[in-house]
Amino acid sequence: MDSVAPPPASTSSVAPFDLDTVDRLLSTTRAVRKRLDLDREVPREVVVECLALSVYAPNASNAQRWRWVLVEDPTHRATIGAWYRTHLSPPMQALLEQRRADGDDAGVRHSESVLHLGAIFDRVPVVAVVCVEGRIEDDPTLNGATWLLGSVYQAVWSFQLALRSRGLGSTFTTAHVLFEAELRSLLGIPETHSVVCMIPLAYTRGMEFAPAPRRPVEDVTFVDHWGTHL
Ligand SMILES: Cc1cc2nc3c(=O)[nH]c(=O)nc-3n(C[C@H](O)[C@H](O)[C@H](O)COP(=O)(O)O)c2cc1C
Repeated sequence: MDSVAPPPASTSSVAPFDLDTVDRLLSTTRAVRKRLDLDREVPREVVVECLALSVYAPNASNAQRWRWVLVEDPTHRATIGAWYRTHLSPPMQALLEQRRADGDDAGVRHSESVLHLGAIFDRVPVVAVVCVEGRIEDDPTLNGATWLLGSVYQAVWSFQLALRSRGLGSTFTTAHVLFEAELRSLLGIPETHSVVCMIPLAYTRGMEFAPAPRRPVEDVTFVDHWGTHL
């Protein structure tokens, strides 16, 4: 990444919300792995409150095909954690070594953080397993994938924002694709549904987070024609 964008300063003179707060929420909701408070209980009501906010997200035809399994059972969390480590840790460890060799400091931090999540997975108080009605195999086209995943990912991000606003951190994870059948079997998720991600969540240690490092919007935005920058 050549340069990192600072969060924008608002140019809006009229706004229905406190933009400083909203912009801080949007720019500092990070993938939280190392700063999860594993010893603090997460009341189910708080998680349900965040889910109740997430369902306002856009979704195709308003069919609301999302389904959520909140995994609180320590035995289930340990089983899933073991799968997570078995499938993800070896390739992630290899990637970490490659990134070290390349001098890719940001990549090294990312790999170490992902490995850390695997190591503590069993102790994360709640894992939201996010499902959607339908299978990619039913329509493996751009249209099919867009309808299937696009109908649930936006609700997941709303969920993560709602968690952050209440002092909880979470990470969008997809390593379960390496053991999705086993996961569905463990949790009784029907074959008609797909697991699209797992969201391990907990209260955070400290509430301040730096804005996420991202490319400046000018680098990635064109007007009217590909290649014509802002
Ligand atoms: C499609 C997708 C898959 C991801 N899979 C994983 C994963 O399996 N494990 C993990 O720890 N993080 C996963 N992440 C989180 C990303 O690593 C994270 O969003 C990215 O590094 C930016 O982090 P930041 O917002 O803290 O800067 C995934 C994110 C997305 C959108």
